[in-house]
Amino acid sequence: MRICVIGTGYVGLVTGCGLAEFGMKVTCVDKVVEKIDMLQRGELPIYEPGLKDLMEKNVTSGRLKFSTNIPEAIRNNLVLFLAVGTPSDEDGGADLRHLFTAVEEIAENINDYKVIAIKSTVPVGTAKQVIQRISKRAPDATFDVVSNPEFLREGSAVEDFLHPNRVVIGTNSKQATAIMKDIYSPLYLIETPFVITNNETAEMIKYASNTFLAAKISYINEVANICELVGADVHVVARAMGLDGRISRKFLHPGPGFGGSCFPKDTRALYHLAKKKGYDPVMISSVIHVNERQKRRMVEKIKRRVGGDLNGKLIGVLGVSFKPNTDDIRESPAIFVMKKLLEAGASVQAFDPAAMKEARKVFHEAISYVEDAYEAANGADALVLMTEWNQFRGLDLQELKTRMRSPIFVDTRNVYDPQKMEQAGFIYEGVGR
Ligand code: UGA
Repeated sequence: MRICVIGTGYVGLVTGCGLAEFGMKVTCVDKVVEKIDMLQRGELPIYEPGLKDLMEKNVTSGRLKFSTNIPEAIRNNLVLFLAVGTPSDEDGGADLRHLFTAVEEIAENINDYKVIAIKSTVPVGTAKQVIQRISKRAPDATFDVVSNPEFLREGSAVEDFLHPNRVVIGTNSKQATAIMKDIYSPLYLIETPFVITNNETAEMIKYASNTFLAAKISYINEVANICELVGADVHVVARAMGLDGRISRKFLHPGPGFGGSCFPKDTRALYHLAKKKGYDPVMISSVIHVNERQKRRMVEKIKRRVGGDLNGKLIGVLGVSFKPNTDDIRESPAIFVMKKLLEAGASVQAFDPAAMKEARKVFHEAISYVEDAYEAANGADALVLMTEWNQFRGLDLQELKTRMRSPIFVDTRNVYDPQKMEQAGFIYEGVGR
């Protein structure tokens, strides 16, 4: 089967490499020439564990190639996966500009029957709009639009693609369903559940799933904040809650709030969509509100610990990416906290194992970029752990302490044990403990 993947971001690249691994012949296309040049040289524009090997393997086998010739790729392939970005627009809705540009290009170049599979996260009703746009521009075209949301997590995207919890196929077309099932047939061997439904339901499944996970995080963050007031330990609470199979222990880890390219954007988009339809989604609104407040609470913690005034203080920051194993800093709580620290007159010296280049694009010369966790402690009035990279889990505490001006450690990910930190002579604060 011949497949074209339009868009070479996280979702597009992982989808392209993953489908090639399933035995498909895949062409990944993008408008950005530099990105395609990099990929053709065998370099990845993103940091994602395991992806480079998968890409090399499938390029060598001849099943995977990269191109900027989008019209040709549209004409030469049966299935066209749309994996372009759908960022937030000014009022929190999804900005579908890139998607519709790709759709126009499909309409201009469609030559025979195509299956157009939407992988990008799009508001409910988008598939219908895609159908209308193509039919208007190319009235004789034969095609089906399938909503095929992706559930991969950055940092474990390859594993998630190759071993998904479920595959969602949304379309009313029998032909398109059969083609999609064929593409994902290797997953039958590992008994992956398939959910076959209509476009609107498939689109909704993605938003409902991400918003539910975000709700779990906001919920446990709220519980953590209450724990702080009543002297309870949120970790024990979360563990005991998770032992109830109805709750499950996953996504109950408290922290500085969720970030990344998905949860913040998707919760806002679902809120926006409901509002547009005349429904007030109070729970989703609270999920977003708790998350915003959680990020601000981290700044308050640091401020309180350094004596109530951040002005003139030097803060060491460990971790800039929104989570470990990625260089992605989109809506990272660390970026929010660092901006607030600077605004309050503090200086920041930061280290991240992968995201230093990305951090530079945001802060330029406004912060210092250091080489490792210990350098981030040099002369610091407080050290703040923002991202739970493995590199930060077993730090030499005495070494850190001797380098710091005062031994204040704010651990927004609860990596360290409060008692051990106190024994080591730190003034330590986590979240909800
Ligand atoms: C998320 C979903 O987990 C994927 O299933 C989905 O496909 C993806 O969005 C998407 O829509 O494309 P991702 O954003 O890569 O994946 O990262 P997560 O691992 O879900 O983490 C999101 C944020 O929540 C991070 O900032 C993380 O630190 C935070 N988090 C996660 C917590 O604060 N506590 C937790 O218990 C779990």
